[in-house]
Amino acid sequence: MTTIQVKLQHEVKDLSLAPLGRQRIEWAGREMPVLRLIRERFAKEKPLTGLRLVACCHITTETANLALALQAGGAEAVLIASNPLSTQDDVAACLVADYGISVFAIKGEDNATYHRHVQIALDSKPNIIIDDGGDVVATLVKERPQQISELIGTTEETTTGIIRLRAMFKDGVLTFPAINVNDAQTKHFFDNRYGTGQSTLDGIIRATNILLAGKTVVIAGYGWCGKGTAMRARGMGANVIVTEVNPVAAIEAVMDGFRVMPMAKAAAEGDIFITVTGNKHVIRGEHFAVMKDGAIVCNSGHFDIEIDLVTLRSLSDEVTTVRPFAQKYHLKSGKSIVVLGEGRLINLAAAEGHPSAVMDMSFANQALACEYLVKNKGKLAPGLHSVPAEIDSEIARLKLTAMGIEIDSLTEEQIEYMNSWTSGT
Ligand code: ADE
Repeated sequence: MTTIQVKLQHEVKDLSLAPLGRQRIEWAGREMPVLRLIRERFAKEKPLTGLRLVACCHITTETANLALALQAGGAEAVLIASNPLSTQDDVAACLVADYGISVFAIKGEDNATYHRHVQIALDSKPNIIIDDGGDVVATLVKERPQQISELIGTTEETTTGIIRLRAMFKDGVLTFPAINVNDAQTKHFFDNRYGTGQSTLDGIIRATNILLAGKTVVIAGYGWCGKGTAMRARGMGANVIVTEVNPVAAIEAVMDGFRVMPMAKAAAEGDIFITVTGNKHVIRGEHFAVMKDGAIVCNSGHFDIEIDLVTLRSLSDEVTTVRPFAQKYHLKSGKSIVVLGEGRLINLAAAEGHPSAVMDMSFANQALACEYLVKNKGKLAPGLHSVPAEIDSEIARLKLTAMGIEIDSLTEEQIEYMNSWTSGT
């Protein structure tokens, strides 16, 4: 392994915000006991010594706790934002000022700056990339294939990134191992469902301060994120409509007690629209045309492509900012439509993303996936790999222990029964 060459560089909003960031990082750490245990073990065993690591994540208090675990393990980390609006500037400042971690992230950075940060991160010639959405890996493959020889492997945090990695594999360009953190049970069952569920509503409420009880909330997409969001919106007293393209997911939504219909119909009924599909233009011109005056539209999927804002702009005379993260489009027809967080992830744009207690498990998976890549350097085939089941169960066990919850274990008789086929009716 070549020696570390990354110098401490940074591009953050204001280093004087560091004390506030530190306070908030420590507060989040209280809810991240599994990651804390990993950090303590990493500090002793140093499994990542000498490795250059790039993490392209939302720069939040939870990501800071992950970065500290990776640093404790011996990695030299460069952090960049995985979304222009999700950076917490005080956290970025603290990581640089107090912990000597290179961070390139400023809340509200433009797309050009975002892409420049991806290039700066790749300049560090990473051995491991933790990606959230696939932008760093896609840039590496497209623009810097000569650097792939430096790479041990990558990990991917989110559904959208996994879809991109599958497409890369199909096109023959994923020539290194990539660990699918998103599909670990201790990740998506909790982060995608309870994390997105709570934080999406948190973002909508912070951006608008509206009452959800009695409102009609239309949720596009009934994957784990949609399920969590629908469940929590109902819990707040909203009437929830689900739209889907997948017939199985649509039946699930029906049997979970939600109304299911095409967006073309739901558009006329909804007060609030939330997209969580991972696909583009789920809400588009034909839908804006029939929406109620004052309808609120937002997205909680990874990229800002789910709402066709270009068409909405072309239908409008004027756009005014009515609150932070809330823009009113004044349509030529006389109606108005309010878009939250510029169509970017509302939970990270207007709120603080998923709560620490779920990110604890997501980021425990990330830290252990990095260790797994290093332990298996040169042995894993190119392409996507699941997080090993033992790691997934160990994270669940540690989480339960931290929560003070005991569970049963199988008796000898039960183990024997589960392993035999001879006893039946
Ligand atoms: N993705 C969703 N919520 C997050 C959080 N709090 N930190 C980092 N990434 C996230």
